[in-house]
Amino acid sequence: MNASILLLPGDGIGPEVVAAAEQVLRAVASRFNHNFTLTRATIGGAALKAGLAPLPDETLVAARAADAILLGAVGDPSYDTAHPAQRPEAALLKIRRELGLYANLRPARVWPGLESAGPLKPEILAGTDLVLFRELTGGLYYGEPRGYSAEGDSAHNTMRYSRGEIERIARRAFEAARLRRKRVTSVDKANVLEVSRLWRQVVTELARDYSDVTLDHMLVDTCAMKIAYAPSSFDVVVTENMFGDILSDEAGAVVGSLGLLPSASLGDGVGLYEPVHGSAPDIAGKGIANPIGTIASAAMLLRYSLKLEAEAAAVEQAIGEVLSAGRRTADLAQGGASIGTEAMTGEILAALGSTPSH
Ligand code: NAD
Ligand code: IPM
Ligand code: MN
Repeated sequence: MNASILLLPGDGIGPEVVAAAEQVLRAVASRFNHNFTLTRATIGGAALKAGLAPLPDETLVAARAADAILLGAVGDPSYDTAHPAQRPEAALLKIRRELGLYANLRPARVWPGLESAGPLKPEILAGTDLVLFRELTGGLYYGEPRGYSAEGDSAHNTMRYSRGEIERIARRAFEAARLRRKRVTSVDKANVLEVSRLWRQVVTELARDYSDVTLDHMLVDTCAMKIAYAPSSFDVVVTENMFGDILSDEAGAVVGSLGLLPSASLGDGVGLYEPVHGSAPDIAGKGIANPIGTIASAAMLLRYSLKLEAEAAAVEQAIGEVLSAGRRTADLAQGGASIGTEAMTGEILAALGSTPSH
């Protein structure tokens, strides 16, 4: 297969973890006889530092033309006080919206060998394998009106969802549940918010098309608690943008490290793949970032955008083998022996039957 993949390394540990995933994609191409054209473009703080917009027009043009996009992370503390439109994060919000990436899939599972790497008792974590469907182009992140009052002494954001926006993400969740354990948990705050009441109503109506799937509704505060004390009770979780942002970081902590979590952002065109974590300025440049979230995102890219299921499964199996063999980056090591980003990547390449390219 011929495929063009756009790499957007971004900021902080973004370039480190994207370099790792790039090697894995090259190894997959050579093992399975594909021709992947990998190109790079600038985004986030890296673009701002070059005097460009957070999402330069050339980057957006390249994104639209690609078969799939792999992004590292954006975010740089030196822009923390900048105007929202001049922050690295603005790039992410814009590219998601411009590409219509309304469905953000964030799987979280316990990898064999990592049962006690997180804060939970292994018997509580056992069997955890959930996927969160986060709505990604609506809600508080995009709702209008937004801003400050003229006096600057109050500020406001708007949470708004239309029926259509709720229905399309919920449909994806139900379809996914059909191929899994056939359970959907829809998460909202229907005891307080009108938006959530509409959400609940639309999801309930849609459930009639999926009588083989069991639907339950859960309040977001309850869900946060239940992810901590019964994470294995979830199969597919569907929720609005900000609730999904928060719950997915919690799911990352529970399965051992935020650094493990991949994601796929899908719409009706090109897909974008990125780890759930951010630019991690506290560890950037040290060579210790966990590359697995990004490598697993590359596996999702192979699966969803390129329809290369065997290749995706091979990458996931390689990750599993390396973790089972006890290899740990610092975030997973609990004070024990750890290896850096490049060594971890080398182990995964070796498990894939390849050797590191540098
Ligand atoms: P973060 O996710 O970058 O880091 C949170 C903690 O997890 C840090 O202690 C970090 O060292 C650790 N961590 C994260 N990824 C790791 C990995 N792969 N390996 C090992 N440890 C890892 O969140 P933050 O520090 O709150 O945010 C930093 C910046 O990143 C902010 O500017 C934020 O806006 C941005 N951000 C971007 C994205 C994205 O690009 N998708 C996501 C979240 C945050
Ligand atoms: C994420 C990040 C982003 C979000 C930020 C950086 C805009 O936290 O992808 O989870 O909130 O969506
Ligand atoms: Mn987040």
